[in-house]
Amino acid sequence: MATVLITGANRGIGLEFTRQYASDGWTVIACCRDLGGDGAAELRDIAAKSADRVHLETMDMLDHDSIDAVAAKYRGTPVDVLINNAGIIGPTPILEHVDKQHFGTIDYDVWDAVIRTNTFAPVKLAEAFVENVAAGTEKKIITLSSTVGSFQESLIPAFCYCTSKTAVTKAVQLLSEVLRDRSIIAVAVCPGHVKTRMGAHGGTVEIPDSVSGMRGLIAGFTMADTGTFRRYNGDTVAW
Ligand SMILES: NC(=O)c1ccc[n+]([C@@H]2O[C@H](COP(=O)([O-])OP(=O)(O)OC[C@H]3O[C@@H](n4cnc5c(N)ncnc54)[C@H](OP(=O)(O)O)[C@@H]3O)[C@@H](O)[C@H]2O)c1
Repeated sequence: MATVLITGANRGIGLEFTRQYASDGWTVIACCRDLGGDGAAELRDIAAKSADRVHLETMDMLDHDSIDAVAAKYRGTPVDVLINNAGIIGPTPILEHVDKQHFGTIDYDVWDAVIRTNTFAPVKLAEAFVENVAAGTEKKIITLSSTVGSFQESLIPAFCYCTSKTAVTKAVQLLSEVLRDRSIIAVAVCPGHVKTRMGAHGGTVEIPDSVSGMRGLIAGFTMADTGTFRRYNGDTVAW
């Protein structure tokens, strides 16, 4: 049975990816930064009922040593699908803090944290696990990006979050090129505006619908899709 590694697996979209892949019989390496806390209770419950198919790992995307430590533990283990899901929008509730992302009142510490989480960490994860993915059958690296990072589809003026997603989409395109001759497929996916903690304000898409849409896409991706940016419903994001 196939193996998927998921970051930010304790809530929102990452938790639902874990739930759906586990219930389909996949082995799931479910990573989050605070495994023991209340915020991971549902994830621990899924793992406890998974007949040892869901493996829990501590990984803080801001701590590259923690990424390397998990990679060292799984050295030699094929990973069919690597899902870069963990991300932050900036301080929340977003409406109370959005001025920190707006021109004139930008908080550069916020921008730094958002870029390191949303842009650096997905590339670091790919670097750390590329041999695992190369040894897998599916050979797919999926990165959750956002339409708000698109040049063509969005002009939302939240400098920190939007640019972090623009940059990670570009990084996915570059990944697709550097990994092309190893037949590794790298795709950026927008989950839609989903009713998670991050998407709480105005989210319209139910979490299971977003995740089942993305899982269907992921299952069908071939080398013809590498380097593309897709919405959970299959559309190509113009970016
Ligand atoms: N929801 C939307 O409408 C939407 C739209 C476009 C793109 N996305 C993207 O989809 C992905 C998932 O978002 P979501 O809606 O599920 O958000 P969410 O409910 O806020 O969940 C974010 C997840 O990322 C984890 N995370 C954040 N920083 C981390 C770090 N340093 N180390 C490890 N884990 C970390 C969180 O863990 P903690 O519990 O420890 O904080 C949580 O598990 C993100 O990349 C997001 O940008 C979401």
